[in-house]
Amino acid sequence: MPQRTIGVFDSGVGGLTVLQAIRKHLPDEDLVYLGDTARVPYGTKSPETVLRYALQAAEFLCAHQVKMIVVACNTASSVALQILTHHFNIPVVGVIVPGAQEAVRISTSGRIGVIGTEGTVNSGAYQREISTLRDGVQVFTAACPLFVPLAEEGWANHEIARLAAHEYLLPLLRNNIDTLVLGCTHYPLLKDTLRQVLPAQVNMVDSATQTAITVRSLLRHHHTLCQEKPKRVGSCRFYVTDVPTRFVRVGSAFLGEELKEVERVTLPAISPDMMRFP
Ligand code: DGL
Repeated sequence: MPQRTIGVFDSGVGGLTVLQAIRKHLPDEDLVYLGDTARVPYGTKSPETVLRYALQAAEFLCAHQVKMIVVACNTASSVALQILTHHFNIPVVGVIVPGAQEAVRISTSGRIGVIGTEGTVNSGAYQREISTLRDGVQVFTAACPLFVPLAEEGWANHEIARLAAHEYLLPLLRNNIDTLVLGCTHYPLLKDTLRQVLPAQVNMVDSATQTAITVRSLLRHHHTLCQEKPKRVGSCRFYVTDVPTRFVRVGSAFLGEELKEVERVTLPAISPDMMRFP
């Protein structure tokens, strides 16, 4: 039987941080990545719109015979995970639960900060998940909309990014958080800058890494881990919904290696019925 792939999707380049983490933890798995570059950003759009986009992305990946869908985008994970799980007959992994679990595990004071896009913060998804996992936890959130363009501009370590981080994090620090969840695909690139602004005792949770660990344990649980012997290096195919030029340029910095073959595709339409949760 042919080895089936893991499908990963995001609004654009950001999900490459999740893809990179999956490749690090599961180097022999084949991956297919979809960046919805024609419609990025998702973080400023309504939950209904993001849900429609996410359903289309998942349909596209399923047509590639994937064995699992990874919703690398925090915004899409926060509004679409339940419906995606309902509609697709394969495991669907989002980035919210793995990040929330790790935050709850490492926080000693139970005062947890979460940063993300407007969409992620307004959805309340991290707040809900963290509160479900542990009683009495207090979650403080901040939307940091400038971080996405700063990371894509290659200014993650620029003084402008440090000033923005200072402004965004100040209210969270006033609430004495001891843990900060990086609830957006782009934020791992800003880790060094955030570290300069955060007191040493505040730990950062990178949901990309936690998601990769979850993907590995779920594949193991479902007995669908790549078992080929001798060990192989998995392949990776890249698809985008707009011309690939910018994705190739910016994405190479996100992935830490040159992106070569990237194909432009059109996503399938979905029936409006899929938008309703029965
Ligand atoms: N990928 C998005 C997220 O993680 C950030 C970029 C966007 O707004 O589309 O929320």
